[in-house]
Amino acid sequence: MRSDDRSNPPNAATAGRGASPAGLKNMLNAAKHLLSSSRRSDVPPFIVMDVMAAAAEREARGERVVHMEVGQPAAPAPLVARRAAQAALETGRIGYTEALGMASLRARIARHYSESYGLVLDPARIAVTTGSSGAFTLAFLALFEAGDRVAIANPGYPPYRHILSALGCEPVLIETKPETRWALSPEALIAAHRKKPLQGVIVASPANPTGTMMTAEALRALIAAAEAEGIRVISDEIYHGLDYAFRAETAAKLSERCIVINSFSKYFCMTGWRIGWMVLPSELVRAVDRLAGNLTISVPTLAQIAAEAAFDGRDEMEAVKHGYEENRRILVEGLPKAGLDRFLPVDGAFYLYANIAKFSDDSLDFAKRMLNEAGVAATPGIDFDPIDGRHFLRFCYAGSNDEMHEAVERIGNWLTNN
Ligand SMILES: Cc1ncc(COP(=O)(O)O)c(C=O)c1O
Repeated sequence: MRSDDRSNPPNAATAGRGASPAGLKNMLNAAKHLLSSSRRSDVPPFIVMDVMAAAAEREARGERVVHMEVGQPAAPAPLVARRAAQAALETGRIGYTEALGMASLRARIARHYSESYGLVLDPARIAVTTGSSGAFTLAFLALFEAGDRVAIANPGYPPYRHILSALGCEPVLIETKPETRWALSPEALIAAHRKKPLQGVIVASPANPTGTMMTAEALRALIAAAEAEGIRVISDEIYHGLDYAFRAETAAKLSERCIVINSFSKYFCMTGWRIGWMVLPSELVRAVDRLAGNLTISVPTLAQIAAEAAFDGRDEMEAVKHGYEENRRILVEGLPKAGLDRFLPVDGAFYLYANIAKFSDDSLDFAKRMLNEAGVAATPGIDFDPIDGRHFLRFCYAGSNDEMHEAVERIGNWLTNN
């Protein structure tokens, strides 16, 4: 059965009665329908998974792989966070919490905004979520109707598009340019809006996959332009804290109407704990509370306890950040000597987005060859940019300093011999 036949499924109970050829065909179609997935679930997988599988095969053969494909820290969660979780486990009872999160964690997150950005926030505006991934679903459901159009920078983090389309919204990719540090500009946003109205826009600074950042002024101008047209702004701030070129500004300071999304995954090295948060406009808190309570009841309690303690592990995390800064220096100095001399500004997060056009028109093939022949795994740009991603590779530099030196050397030898 074609997926567009779903609107008119055959009746599984009556199909095939009498076992005529037509009846059998109907029965077969009914059976297929029972097993087919919805059209909305037809979102593309992450292509990086192919690279990861190939890297695992290579390692299983006993060969060396420098992993720069997956966007996650190599370091563990702060010790204080792990200790807090251990202590909570000892007490025996890990129950549900409020749908919007433990009051003490919401208050601690609000305090983080005054400590880090000089912004006084009412803890009532904080919602704790299952990673920032869980926050996207809640934010999109709270803000948008099916059919709404939401602008996204291209290249960008693929799940933005895929979650939106699974929810029946339309992701609208907007090309970015070097003049705006590969971020959305007010002009590009408004031009897209004039063509066909937009209801939302997602901004990310530092961004994945590019690692580029928006200045506070650029962010302010974009938010002002969007809000003047009634376009809702969602700011993904998951890489805040990992800024090297200049300090990242929070959108929460620039507007009380936008939704800010953040997570403990990156700066606090807590990817697997699945814990994040949102800063919401007061008017949306109740809607998110209703949605969160129905969709998931609450966020894992143990992770909430660990996350609250994580704020006391900042010294440890700053040391991890300094490691990334050194990695960044090694790559920015080393990759051009190795032959990869075109990349976007390496402002923040732990990504370097390199242009490989002078070597290949097919970033997936290039990534596979680099893995097989040089033993370095990176992510092909086509994961992030359906338009020009075939010319780019994303390198994640969240590993060790030694691994970065090794990657530069391996890539240099490989490109010289090819
Ligand atoms: C830009 C961006 N946003 C959101 C996420 C989701 O992270 P999590 O759900 O672990 O908070 C990621 C993960 O890589 C990301 O790169």
